[in-house]
Amino acid sequence: MARITAGVTTSHIPAVGAAIDQYKTQAPYWAPVFKGYEFSRAWMAANPPDVVFLVYNDHATAFSLDLIPTFAIGCADHFAPADEGWGPRPVPPVEGHADLAWHIAQSVIQSDFDLTIVNRMDVDHGLTVPLSLMFGQPSAWPCRVIPFAVNVVQYPPPSGNRCYQLGKAIRRAVESFDEDLNVQIWGTGGMSHQLQGPRAGLINAAFDQRFMDRLIEEPEALAQMPLVDYMREAGSEGIELVMWLIMRGALTPQVKTLHRFYHVPASNTAVGHLILENAT
Ligand code: DHB
Ligand code: FE
Repeated sequence: MARITAGVTTSHIPAVGAAIDQYKTQAPYWAPVFKGYEFSRAWMAANPPDVVFLVYNDHATAFSLDLIPTFAIGCADHFAPADEGWGPRPVPPVEGHADLAWHIAQSVIQSDFDLTIVNRMDVDHGLTVPLSLMFGQPSAWPCRVIPFAVNVVQYPPPSGNRCYQLGKAIRRAVESFDEDLNVQIWGTGGMSHQLQGPRAGLINAAFDQRFMDRLIEEPEALAQMPLVDYMREAGSEGIELVMWLIMRGALTPQVKTLHRFYHVPASNTAVGHLILENAT
């Protein structure tokens, strides 16, 4: 049986990807950010997953206003790093897991969640920066990755509760797949940030810390938080945090926190990062 062994959350700041690609991780501005991921890379090397189910958002790269899937599952064998305007990042191609992705698609769709099945898609910083943070700069990514894209770019995004319930359905799907696979689920993006408008630059550290506390301790209640509260408290791009609830829904009600990190600022954003394990 496949099983979900751990959940990871991390911000996906594009400037962090550029710092890695340009070998600037030890520069004074960036060193404190990357220090927070030292434990994570060592832990990942000691606990390598077979597959990462990577919940992220596309930033008008693969999708545009022409086509806006709320939830899209990548069922291809390969996904190329996208050109976001400066050429593709110098990172390895992403190898998918088509059999598991199709199994999850059929299980989750038959559990009343509408997913868009994607057979060709380039992946942007939302997916590649978390991989770089957790795995460094290998010549090939050490595991398969199922990209799962959530619309948080164009209103209306899905509610926190829908994301949380979807996480539960993803867990049931993974646990009904016959092959023995160690699967991690990652929820990426966040934390508080706003990139445009009069409140550009907004960061709310008190909200972010409380969000992490509640994600760990009372996810059911956190899932009830209305979208307008994300907007008001965490800024317009803070809505990326609903993706963390998909990760949390796929874990057990009680979890063990293996690692927790928070740093402000990095680029326009607060960096938040968790590694959680099922309690049982
Ligand atoms: C930044 C953060 C993001 O999540 C993003 O998608 C783009 C930019 C930033 O902090 O600059
Ligand atoms: Fe983003």
